[in-house]
Amino acid sequence: MTQVAITDTTLRDAHQSLIATRMRTRDMLPIAEKLDSVGFFSLEVWGGATFDVCIRFLNEDPWDRLRSLAEEIRETPLQMLLRGQNIVGYRHYPDDIVIKFVEKSAENGIDIFRVFDAVNDIRNMEVAIIAAKKTGAHVQGTISYTISPAHTIETFVANATELASLECDSLCIKDMAGLISPYAAYNLVKTLKDEVGLPVDLHSHSTSGMAPMSYMAACEAGVDILDTAFSPFAGGTSQPPTETVVAGLDGTPYDTGLDLTLLTEIKEYFDGVKEKYRSILDPVSEKIDTSVLIHQIPGGMLSNLVSQLKEQNAMDRYDDVLKEMPKVREDLGYPPLVTPTSQIVGTQAVLNVMMGERYKVIPKEVRDYVRGIYGRPPAPINKQLLAKVLGDDVAVTCRPADLLPPELEMRTREAEELGIIGKEEDILTYALYPQIAPKFLRGEAEEEELKPTAATGGSGVHAHTGIFNKFKVVVDGETFVVEVLATGAGEMAVATGDTKPAHTSVEGAIASNMHGMVLGLKVTEGDAVEEGDVVAVIEAMKMENNIHSPHSGIVREIFVSEGATVGAGDNLMSVY
Ligand code: CO
Repeated sequence: MTQVAITDTTLRDAHQSLIATRMRTRDMLPIAEKLDSVGFFSLEVWGGATFDVCIRFLNEDPWDRLRSLAEEIRETPLQMLLRGQNIVGYRHYPDDIVIKFVEKSAENGIDIFRVFDAVNDIRNMEVAIIAAKKTGAHVQGTISYTISPAHTIETFVANATELASLECDSLCIKDMAGLISPYAAYNLVKTLKDEVGLPVDLHSHSTSGMAPMSYMAACEAGVDILDTAFSPFAGGTSQPPTETVVAGLDGTPYDTGLDLTLLTEIKEYFDGVKEKYRSILDPVSEKIDTSVLIHQIPGGMLSNLVSQLKEQNAMDRYDDVLKEMPKVREDLGYPPLVTPTSQIVGTQAVLNVMMGERYKVIPKEVRDYVRGIYGRPPAPINKQLLAKVLGDDVAVTCRPADLLPPELEMRTREAEELGIIGKEEDILTYALYPQIAPKFLRGEAEEEELKPTAATGGSGVHAHTGIFNKFKVVVDGETFVVEVLATGAGEMAVATGDTKPAHTSVEGAIASNMHGMVLGLKVTEGDAVEEGDVVAVIEAMKMENNIHSPHSGIVREIFVSEGATVGAGDNLMSVY
């Protein structure tokens, strides 16, 4: 009897997929005890985008959320999604931060760590896996599933074998775009079971509509765990519905043994929660989008692009962007499209189309990816692109985190100086998000109001001349409006909300070409700069973008400080 167990993702992936990760802890706690009584294999409640969104938008402490849930949920293991060396962020962190984060997560209530890496480079997962094993937690080694010439059953089995050698307790097939077909699921699950021997969890999304069939096929192949979400937060870009899967397997050899009546009571609770978030529920995320089967682009990203293009009457760009995404992905060695590679491929594709020239603008993250900073891509990077990015440099071939010096001590000191440490975990919050954490930890952040989608909030028309297009892109469930401005530098501009009025008529002014946050100032007043020098770094769409000086001169005055939010066109400094 191969009874199938269920991991419910309602409190993490499901709301990340459908309502931009905005579910509040106060909407989770009232149902926590009941969820605990179901008998799930685990409840996925933390990680992924939840950490970032908590401090960025909800004015909630993610550690407090975890502890509160752990107090209510005493029987069912609590699970988190950990992005390997990226932890819950978008770049690699040094080993000491990874280890400390894992220890603290376990201490605060995580029982199961699902660890993945966007390019399936096991070297990016090993430190997290070893640290999690040390805490006594269950470690689920994860394969990011995708379809490409560089991905075969053999390559996935090779990944899984490495994960098994790191003593992972189970395997997860993470099909984040809902691409796995029933027979592919059958073959992969069966081969993994036969050749690796660990329990296998299938995590899919309903995006293409195939997931329930693939789950059935996986059952027949001997899958041990299936990931589902309560029906109000299921379907579309989220998981298949928990109640449906439980009912569908009832009385079969794969019976989950869960009580449909109890599940329905919980479902009714979540019906109410869903109503609260109705205004931010994107109908596009909720529906089946079969185009993902052709383009393999995660549903949310593509559908949003389409609707925005239609709105802008700019559907002529649609085909170009659509054709460009797979090309960029191929150039980059076929990475599976998952955080952060989905952003890397998506942003580059939009830029390639909008700039009218491929790779005219290459954000730092894309450069880093090409250099090998994110690990070994599944297939070699396009030679010309590699040469363009590397110049005289050589690519990174070691484990990328080997290049990162320890940071914990430095971050502790900085956080102490800032006076923002209330508990040890705050150091980690700060280390992960040094730009946004101080405001939150000082208690100066505000909870975002529940209002129409971020895109509506950010689609104010900017009075720049030369706007020739505006796009909505979704990054990790967060919607950004991207405006490409025909500025002299010809760079990307990103507008996500209201912008400050631009300074005008300042001699030698250097303006930000995008809405974002001043991540770093590379010069101080009095410095001499040459044309083309990087004078500031602006973070937008979670990517770092260099601001180059358009002319040479002396830095006369700096108008902004690090951490400040600037709008497209805002002056950063004067140089003449
Ligand atoms: Co997922």
